[in-house]
Amino acid sequence: MKYVNKKLTIEKINFEKITSKFGTPAYCYSYSKLKENINKFKESFKSFSPLICFAIKSNTNVNIIKEIKKFGLGADVVSIGELMIALKAGINPNKIVFSGVGKTFSEINFAIKKKILLINAESLSEIKEINKAAKINNKRVGIGVRLNPNTDANTLSQISTGKKENKFGVNKKTLNQIVNYCKISKNIDLKCLSVHIGSQILNHKPYEKMLRTVSAILSKTNHAFEFIDLGGGMGITYSDKNKKLNYKKYNGAILKFLQKHNVKIIFEPGRSIIGDTGTLITKVIYIKDSERKKFIILDAAMNDLMRPALYGAVHKTIPVIKSNKFSKKSYEFVGPICESTDKFVTLKKFQKLKENDLIAICDVGAYGMSLSSNYNLRPKAVELLIKGSKIKVIRKRQKYKDFI
Ligand code: LLP
Repeated sequence: MKYVNKKLTIEKINFEKITSKFGTPAYCYSYSKLKENINKFKESFKSFSPLICFAIKSNTNVNIIKEIKKFGLGADVVSIGELMIALKAGINPNKIVFSGVGKTFSEINFAIKKKILLINAESLSEIKEINKAAKINNKRVGIGVRLNPNTDANTLSQISTGKKENKFGVNKKTLNQIVNYCKISKNIDLKCLSVHIGSQILNHKPYEKMLRTVSAILSKTNHAFEFIDLGGGMGITYSDKNKKLNYKKYNGAILKFLQKHNVKIIFEPGRSIIGDTGTLITKVIYIKDSERKKFIILDAAMNDLMRPALYGAVHKTIPVIKSNKFSKKSYEFVGPICESTDKFVTLKKFQKLKENDLIAICDVGAYGMSLSSNYNLRPKAVELLIKGSKIKVIRKRQKYKDFI
């Protein structure tokens, strides 16, 4: 995205033009950014050709998933719904892994029938359930087990998953029990050890620590795993102050790990693939003066983008048409929802705004639309994929008749 003649432009079109046709709020994705991210990801780890399974939870738009599939990626799913959408997008079942702490029997059964690559289990009870379903289907099913490596990912506590107090994965002791159970179970084939320590990770060190833990465990565990699934978590730079994750160092740590262990690596990236491709364009409905600040009341709200309300996440917020006049008071960008947490950001310095001006909320491609809801009975925004000067509606704006 860049300003061309003071107008914020995505690929070859400016947002003003896009929204004059499709309205606001609107999620706009850049195809060329998506392509760049996938190629960069592949390039970073090309020396060991990992299987890259896009984390569907980060963006569940079937048209986005179809584009991602064209680059040969698989999918990481966490529910029947996500599995269905991955299959609908044409992803090869042999490139699908199923994660999650609470898969039900019917979800497991469905996944077995679809012959996906791996069901990554997170407890012995779940593995027993998989074995039962596999027996009923008269199949031998490839599974993984998720280890909780007790590693601090140095990220927001709400999106940290690899510490022992988190609900995810199993500890060393349970892992050994699982290995023993799998040895005597005819219908399951324990192929994979998986880990995912958290999301929005910008420092390679937690990954290095996690790899050391996995390596030590593998050396002690009496089992030959075919795959190590390292999950996702690679962070993006939401702010100019953020330092980028050093992929070279992460790659180096994995190469070191692979010298000791002859396994195939799986990744489950979400945010690093789709996060910075998406922008939410919203319009100023009203400007309300208060003593110390001005409330900029937008037509997008926490139902459209939950991350600020849920995690205190801050997204870069910029004007669609640039000017040189600045406001004297700070601006608090809020939505119309009846919750005080329906607030995007407070900025001390911003150009002077008036009602009907357009605002861009950046880097919302991951966990933006996928976390959206109909709270306050607000319809979901339109989603548009921008390729050069072409605009493709990839999900229509929801109509009231869709839910009333
Ligand atoms: N694999 C597993 C098992 C996961 O739980 C997740 C994310 C991923 C892969 C993908 O992680 P990524 O590469 O996108 O970081 N809603 C939060 C993020 C929650 C992440 C949940 N798990 C947010 O808006 O920041």
